[in-house]
Amino acid sequence: MNFTLRFPTEIIFGNDTINQIGTKARQLGNKAFLVTGKSAMRKAGYIDKIIDILKSAGVDDIFLYDQAEHDPSVETVDKGVQLAKEGNYNVVIGIGGGSAMDTGKTIASLMNNEGSAGDYQSGKEITNPGVPFIAVPTTAGTGAEITNNSVITNREKKIKQSIRSPLMIAKVAIVDPVLTKTMPPYVTASSGMDALTQAIETYVSLSANPFSDTLALRSISIISQNLYKAFENGDDMSARENMAMGSLFGAMAFANSALGAVHGLAHPIGALFDVPHGVICGLLLPYVMEYNLPAKTERFAQIAKSMDQYIEGESDEINAHRAIEFIHNLITKLKLPKRLSELGITRDDLPLIAKSAKGSSLNNNPRPTDPESLVEIMLSAL
Ligand SMILES: [Fe+2]
Repeated sequence: MNFTLRFPTEIIFGNDTINQIGTKARQLGNKAFLVTGKSAMRKAGYIDKIIDILKSAGVDDIFLYDQAEHDPSVETVDKGVQLAKEGNYNVVIGIGGGSAMDTGKTIASLMNNEGSAGDYQSGKEITNPGVPFIAVPTTAGTGAEITNNSVITNREKKIKQSIRSPLMIAKVAIVDPVLTKTMPPYVTASSGMDALTQAIETYVSLSANPFSDTLALRSISIISQNLYKAFENGDDMSARENMAMGSLFGAMAFANSALGAVHGLAHPIGALFDVPHGVICGLLLPYVMEYNLPAKTERFAQIAKSMDQYIEGESDEINAHRAIEFIHNLITKLKLPKRLSELGITRDDLPLIAKSAKGSSLNNNPRPTDPESLVEIMLSAL
C-alpha cells in the first residue's frame, strides 16, 4: 500500500475564483505568456476580462498565444516555446480545455530545457524546472490542471504521445465553474464522459490506492448525477459546479494512480482519426468495462453503488452489469456516437490501432490485454 501524492501547490476552486488570477500570477512573475484556443473563451469575452485582471495586478506584459488547436502538435508547442523565450516571459497561463492547458504546460516546462517537444516525447528527460505554470480549465474535464503530463500529437508520425515529468505540474490550478458555462452541449457531453471514464478507470486500475479510491468513487457519484443535467441545461449552475468538482476529484485521483485500456486505445484512435478524446473515451468505456468485469467484479458493483444503480441482494455481477447499462443509457441521452463505425473506423483499421496502443494506461488495466484482445474489444464496439 505505497503511494506518493503530487499536486499543484495551490488548487483554487469556486465560482468567480478567476478574479484571483491577477494576484496569483503576480506572485510568480510580471510577464505572462497566455495560452488558449481560438474560439469560445474569446467570443465569451473571458480572455479580455482575464487580461484586464492581470494588468490591474501589475502583470503588464502579456503575450496572447491563441494557437492551441485540438490535439496540440509538436510544432505549436515548439513555436510557443520560441516566442516565450524570446520575450523572456516568466509565467505561463493555460486557459481552456485539455488541449490549451497541455500546450501551455508543455511550453512552460520546456522553456529552460533545450530541444523540441518531439524529443521529449521520444524519451528525453526534462531536467530543469521550467517557468511557473497556472492552469485554468474551462471544461469539466480532462484533468490537465492537475496532471504531470501533456499529450502532444506528432502529425508527421501520426502518433499521440505523452511528455511526462513531476516538473510539469502546475504551480496553481484555478477551477472556476463559471468558466464552464459557455461550453456547448456537445463539449459538455464529451468532456464529461472523459472525466467519468478517468474516474472509473482509476478505480479499477492496478495502481488504485486508498486515496485514489476515495476520490474516484466520489467523482463517479457526482458526475453520474450531474452530467446529463449540465448537458440539458448549460445554465444550471449547480450542475456546472458539481461537474467541475467531480472532474477535479477524478483528476486528483488518476494523477496519483493510473488509467486503463480505454485511454490506452483512445490515444492511437485520436492520432489516426479526427475525433475528440472524450467522444472516443465514452464510446469505448462500456465495452472495456465488459472486458474487465471478470477481473474486478466487486469493484464494478461498487461503481454501480456510486451511480445509485445498485440493487441490494443482487449479485456483484448483476450490479456490475447495471453500471455498464447506466453508461450505455447516458451516452444515448447525451447524443454521443455509440459505434466506432460512426467515427469512420472500419474493421481493417483495428489491427493497426491495437498494435499502436501502448503505455502506462494499458499496463495498468486490471485485465491483461494483447493486440488480439484489443481487436476483440473494438470489434464489439464497431
Ligand atoms: Fe482522458
